[in-house]
Amino acid sequence: MTRRLTSSPRPARGARILVLHGPNLNLLGTRNPTVYGTTTLAEINAELTRRAKERGAELRTAQSNIEGELVDFIQRAKGWADAIIMNPGGYTHTSVAIRDAIEAVGIPTIEVHLSNVHAREPFRSESLTAPKCVGQIMGFGANSYYLGLDAALAHVEATPRDGKKGRQKRR
Ligand code: DQA
Repeated sequence: MTRRLTSSPRPARGARILVLHGPNLNLLGTRNPTVYGTTTLAEINAELTRRAKERGAELRTAQSNIEGELVDFIQRAKGWADAIIMNPGGYTHTSVAIRDAIEAVGIPTIEVHLSNVHAREPFRSESLTAPKCVGQIMGFGANSYYLGLDAALAHVEATPRDGKKGRQKRR
């Protein structure tokens, strides 16, 4: 039996992905290597860029230690990014502003963490941002980001465009 598709999935080729790194992630490589590993942020960004290129996707990266700057990056992504991969760092557990920005722009966001936050101090178990994200990937070190890219591209592929360039159909 043949099934008629009501909407066609779109390829990851041409997808635009923004990767946002929050506070202290600029210190990766030397920051608590037993928790966060020894891979630097530059190495993670280079590997993400390589993988995105391989899939025909466009990738931009940004890091800030400042909450409001992260909010600005999220707001400015509207109309450009098909998906955001974000590690909000310590703001994960405190930032109503970042949560609101993710909700306000409506860009599908994947939250990633290098460490398994549930295996650490109890205050890290709560994420204010995750409920506004498509999903969360954590505990795999730098691989959390690469899995995040796979998840972002899979999400873009599975989501039909609403006809407007670079925008996702709201569901
Ligand atoms: C982190 C986990 C957070 O609790 C912490 O504040 C970070 C890094 C992670 O990637 O494991 O800065 O987001």
